[in-house]
Amino acid sequence: MIRSIVRATGSALPRRIMKNTDFEGVVETSDEWIVQRTGIRQRHVAADDETTASLGEAAARAALANAGLEASDLDLIILATSTPNNTFPATAVEIQHRLGMSNGFAFDMQAVCSGFVYAITTADLYIRGGLAKRVLVIGAETFSRILDWNDRSTCVLFGDGAGAVLLEAAEGDGAVSDSGILAASLRSDGQHKDKLFVDGGPSTTGTVGHLRMEGREVFKHAVGMITDVIEATFSAAGITADDLDWFVPHQANKRIIDASAKKLGIAEEKVVITVDLHGNTSAASVPLALSTAVNDGRIKKGDLVLLEAMGGGFTWGAVLLRW
Ligand code: ACO
Repeated sequence: MIRSIVRATGSALPRRIMKNTDFEGVVETSDEWIVQRTGIRQRHVAADDETTASLGEAAARAALANAGLEASDLDLIILATSTPNNTFPATAVEIQHRLGMSNGFAFDMQAVCSGFVYAITTADLYIRGGLAKRVLVIGAETFSRILDWNDRSTCVLFGDGAGAVLLEAAEGDGAVSDSGILAASLRSDGQHKDKLFVDGGPSTTGTVGHLRMEGREVFKHAVGMITDVIEATFSAAGITADDLDWFVPHQANKRIIDASAKKLGIAEEKVVITVDLHGNTSAASVPLALSTAVNDGRIKKGDLVLLEAMGGGFTWGAVLLRW
């Protein structure tokens, strides 16, 4: 039976760090308000020469180096992003070219902040279906380019960055003790469109547009949706919260993460938090957090790891894997 194991991770962040205090004088806010409501202390913001493609390329190169592989060893690149370099071609194809890879295929996936969870689930299906043996799954975003920098209720929340996970086909018997992706659960519901969206697009305004969010409304739905989809994933794998070693949630808001972990009975010390350093990097947040916890030695071989995300649409989902 074919399954998908994680061979390596990688990440990349823009050079410039913007601290909460850097907003003072730009919009009416304070470090205290931002930290209390969100847990965010700083975020990275892309310079003109840093794009979704360049950050994605850097994360991809880091994952390939950590795996000891070349780009030509890959069969597929899936890029999760809502901030592509161009409307088309897909930024994944641009990253493929930047890596010097002309074999295989590449495409973008768009599920906003859930993009990485959708993309890694898709990659797993390509591997298990026999269409690819090695897949690089990247989450890369430059949300700073779609923020309304006059809107204090959104501009303080987001950051730019990229993370990548290299998946590889392996043999296994499908047991929960096997390493690799064990279970996933994905959801979406378009009735919530107006709570979190971008007010532009090629087929409507012909502009790129700006992110708009009813933060309190998103907050109201987040914890219930997140915990439901995680419980579905636990039940598909036949495990409980106690079996988990690490919970790597989407990093939107520390209060949402804490409330979800508490409702699920996941101990605080098992939760990976990077929202304080990166802000909400949308589809990049889960692979960035994952890569951070792998690099600092927290996530080790054999650990049971739960990924989760929720975002615009709404879309939401969870993936369980053994490292
Ligand atoms: N600084 C100071 N005051 C602010 C700021 C700011 N940056 N932003 C808003 N305020 C004010 C508001 O104007 C409001 O003032 P008023 O009472 O005079 O009208 C007051 O603070 C309270 O505003 P709320 O929006 O009700 O504040 P809330 O406690 O809900 O916190 C927040 C706002 C942080 C956005 C919260 O609702 C939240 O985190 N929601 C979830 C958002 C989220 O996670 N989105 C991403 C998920 S999906 C994705 O990742 C794309």
